[in-house]
Amino acid sequence: MASRILLTGGAGYIGSHTHVALVEAGHEVVILDSFANARRSVPDRLAQITGRPVQLVEGDVRDEALLTRVLVEQGIEAVVHFAALKAVGESMVRPLDYFDVNVGGLTALLRAMETAGCRRLVFSSSATVYGLPEEIPTPESAPLRAMNPYGQTKIIGEQMLDWLGRSNPDWAIGVLRYFNPAGAHGSGLIGEDPHDTPGNLMPFVAKVATGELERIAVFGADYDTPDGTGVRDYIHVEDLARGHVLSLQSLLDTGQGHLVNLGTGRGYSVLEVIAAYKRASNRHLPYTITERRAGDVPISVARADKAAGLLGFRTEKGLEEMCASSWAWVSTTGAQD
Ligand code: UFG
Repeated sequence: MASRILLTGGAGYIGSHTHVALVEAGHEVVILDSFANARRSVPDRLAQITGRPVQLVEGDVRDEALLTRVLVEQGIEAVVHFAALKAVGESMVRPLDYFDVNVGGLTALLRAMETAGCRRLVFSSSATVYGLPEEIPTPESAPLRAMNPYGQTKIIGEQMLDWLGRSNPDWAIGVLRYFNPAGAHGSGLIGEDPHDTPGNLMPFVAKVATGELERIAVFGADYDTPDGTGVRDYIHVEDLARGHVLSLQSLLDTGQGHLVNLGTGRGYSVLEVIAAYKRASNRHLPYTITERRAGDVPISVARADKAAGLLGFRTEKGLEEMCASSWAWVSTTGAQD
């Protein structure tokens, strides 16, 4: 059944792909975005992809009065909350901004939802909450440990939601712990588009492929992994977007919350990613092995069976499709933005 959904941060990387997936599933979507880390061209692109006009409210997720007004006036039944700061390194130098936007933003949103009587929420969490995981693949029951302020804000967010749910059983909250999102939409019209030099591997490799950056630094080749480089569970952003649709549908159908990993259950090393991107782009991708990056874990891979059992979520796209869609995006539309 169609529902009216608010996406905070709906013009961002994961938010925009989720917008498409929700509209394709028949939902009515309203985007709230401040464009602090999203391009102005995204709403038009979304309209082009979906063939539907985009309902957009420009504003900050910490603005409780605005959120309340939007929830009430638009008759919103559920919220998917993406709007947050997400750069690990930046969070180490500007921790207060992270607490302000990520924890303050969530608090303002929850208050507005209480006022409006809207108690269905999907929350973007992250595998970063596991810190240095002892068990690989990592189950949802693993202990939580923050390695940086960004991770701490996600743990605090999850805990706030847990206590809120216990305070009032009317709440149904889906907590989604993303592993490493990668790739772009099949249309080539939306994708990851960082304003600055990318801190993450895939967008960095993409910029070396386009010639914008010269060479990849591989952060350490002396980890206890098959080729010595870091291993991650990369998940195609379109699969991830579908995970949100299933999460939302489950909240609306059952009135019950859930907390799940969203990953593939399979890991790839940095060198495997570079090799796959080379095949997809047919470009020379020079790299140098450098020191380890402080705070990096050797391996991060999801145990993926809980989302499969609870939500029927299974990933459909592999690393080749992540690299091919990323390349299609950066070598055409993304580069012109
Ligand atoms: N890496 C490089 N060179 C680079 C960038 C990354 O070798 O220029 C390596 C890293 O050392 C790591 C792998 O590539 O082994 C992936 O690094 P990313 O920065 O792409 O991703 P992370 O796993 O470090 O972090 C990401 C998100 C976080 C999130 C985390 C969840 O950026 O927000 O996944 O596990 F918390």
